[in-house]
Amino acid sequence: MEERMISSEQQEQDASVELSLRPTTLKQYIGQHKAKQNLSIFIEAAKMRNEPLDHVLLYGPPGLGKTTLASIIANEMGVQFRTTAGPAIERAGDLAAILSSLEAGDVLFIDEIHRLPRSVEEILYPAMEDFCLDIVIGNGSSARSVRLDLPPFTLVGATTRAGLLTAPLRDRFGVLSRLEFYETKDLCSIVERTSDIFHVGINQDAATEIARRSRGTPRIANRLLKRVRDISQVKGESEITLETTREALQMLQVDAAGLDHIDHKYLLAMMDGFNGGPVGLDTIAATIGEESQTIEDVYEPFLLQTGFIQRTPRGRLVTPKAYEHFNREVPNK
Ligand code: ADE
Repeated sequence: MEERMISSEQQEQDASVELSLRPTTLKQYIGQHKAKQNLSIFIEAAKMRNEPLDHVLLYGPPGLGKTTLASIIANEMGVQFRTTAGPAIERAGDLAAILSSLEAGDVLFIDEIHRLPRSVEEILYPAMEDFCLDIVIGNGSSARSVRLDLPPFTLVGATTRAGLLTAPLRDRFGVLSRLEFYETKDLCSIVERTSDIFHVGINQDAATEIARRSRGTPRIANRLLKRVRDISQVKGESEITLETTREALQMLQVDAAGLDHIDHKYLLAMMDGFNGGPVGLDTIAATIGEESQTIEDVYEPFLLQTGFIQRTPRGRLVTPKAYEHFNREVPNK
């Protein structure tokens, strides 16, 4: 019992540290300069007009800070932040209940908005456009539609797959903001900021090494930092050194380019089993035992961006850069 209590206390503490890692203002938010610059103007203008901010769609690969940015929008607008996710809303009534509990100006954040069922999505159209809910009461010939007014609100949608959104939903967002992979210098500032929050010292070279190997993604940078911190602590270091960082990253199977063992499995399967491609996504997924969607959303964006693979109409192709990365000769095709 005692142990359980300690562990739940510990869990609460971990969760609160996790939350405190999140910046709460645009000024604290590092990187994504374009998105930040645009949002700060739109927020300022909406506040001057005393109106809610237009609906915002944030899209891009996972871990780049979409949820954080959504909560910053609410904080900067001085309104409540309400949060849900596409797969959590199964029926139109679930969304109607959330919408009718909003207060004027609130930010409603819907994560993975591309996974909203179509019948639920249709409730959103009049809600976003005219701030009203069209509810059908009764059924058959006695069914009638009742229109309920909603307070004005801002919908912030997040998705890793903007291409999967239907056109009518996409068209109802006034602000579309694509989040990009972070530059090393921005990730380095994030690692240093997180170290400060953890009260651990980190040498500049060590912070840069973590940043360089984090696939342009703050979530990965913070995760790697935590593991590096563990090893540094066990070694009794007064600050995290480059040597310990390299040792930890090797243990975690993160290579010099930031690729992990699943990236390796993916690239090696294409090189060894398919002569470098082209290979269809589902074939690669079945070969390495991962879900196609995870590969497409989580792994491929970084491999494409850094030029390890290409997407062609006939399938995925490994590039010469990937062969060089593994010290292999490019096959003669
Ligand atoms: N922690 C995670 N992402 C961050 C960001 N973009 N700015 C500051 N701290 C962060």
